[in-house]
Amino acid sequence: MATNNHIVTVTMNPAIDLACSVPDFTAGKVNRVASHQVDAAGKGINIAVLLRKFGLPVTVTGFLGSDNASIFEKKFKDEGITDAFVRVPGETRIGIKVLDPHTESTTDINFPGLSPDEVHVRELTERVAKLAAQAFMVVIGGSLPATVSPDVVGELVRVIKAQGAKAVIDTSGPALFSGIEAAPWLVKPNDDELSELVGRPMNKLDDIVGQMRTMNRAGIANVAVSLGARGAVFVDGEEELFAKPPKIEPVSTVGAGDAMIGGLVAGAALGLGLKERVRLATSLSAATVAQVGPSLKSIDAARELEEQVVVETISL
Ligand SMILES: Nc1ncnc2c1ncn2[C@@H]1O[C@H](COP(=O)(O)OP(=O)(O)OP(=O)(O)O)[C@@H](O)[C@H]1O
Ligand SMILES: [Mg+2]
Repeated sequence: MATNNHIVTVTMNPAIDLACSVPDFTAGKVNRVASHQVDAAGKGINIAVLLRKFGLPVTVTGFLGSDNASIFEKKFKDEGITDAFVRVPGETRIGIKVLDPHTESTTDINFPGLSPDEVHVRELTERVAKLAAQAFMVVIGGSLPATVSPDVVGELVRVIKAQGAKAVIDTSGPALFSGIEAAPWLVKPNDDELSELVGRPMNKLDDIVGQMRTMNRAGIANVAVSLGARGAVFVDGEEELFAKPPKIEPVSTVGAGDAMIGGLVAGAALGLGLKERVRLATSLSAATVAQVGPSLKSIDAARELEEQVVVETISL
């Protein structure tokens, strides 16, 4: 029997990002757009796109507004991703970013999101259970719509594990707390999310590693904490590693975390050990930060950075 390397990602609060460049943008006036870019975005979707670059089979689910789903549907078709999103009446939220190249300012206009109800949540839970039964891993990424209880993340983790798949979560606040209580296979908060989780600032390495050991002992097999440009820490109960990224010219940090999760998940699906997963994830994140937009055009850019990643065993 072939090894199961099918991955499912769950995005409960995706968005359509519209970035436009408007020189000398002025509120209350008529403004002309010089250039623009529209993208179907969301953590689970970004991760899915990256996993496809490794040739891995990927199915995406979560909630999509039925009134403006076509941009997502086109992306899934183009990338060879299987669409299992639950359709919810209304529109997926739109986020408009107005960038003024002269003043280098950004104006954000955020539309309200979808309001999935209990029926939609039940539908999603059932889909995740069915998909998890056939999957190697299920990744839950991003924030939740206001109408969805954070407890849903913990419930989904339990459902995924009960079906024999590995659960991965990348979210924040109460949703992260709820997911962690259900002991997923991998969690990757950044330092701010970890501080919020434990209720005090976490900026010292020994403190961070101590907290990661506690989470590992509580049943989370792989704990990663990312520290932006400084790198990331990884604990799996056997090894404790610090990965320093290569020096790159940062262009946009959007998607750095998603690339790290994507690398850790792809590495696991390809059967790599912790050190190799960490090296892969760190090079993918750095390559993503060195380019515009959240999705790497090609993983070759990361492959070139891989040997410049410094992976050290932490001695505390
Ligand atoms: N300036 C940089 N240069 C090189 N690598 C970087 C840089 N910034 C981030 N990274 C890499 O990306 C990883 C994840 O970044 P970060 O800790 O900012 O994630 P995050 O806050 O979860 O991001 P996101 O906003 O995507 O959720 C870091 O651990 C690091 O390896
Ligand atoms: Mg993050």
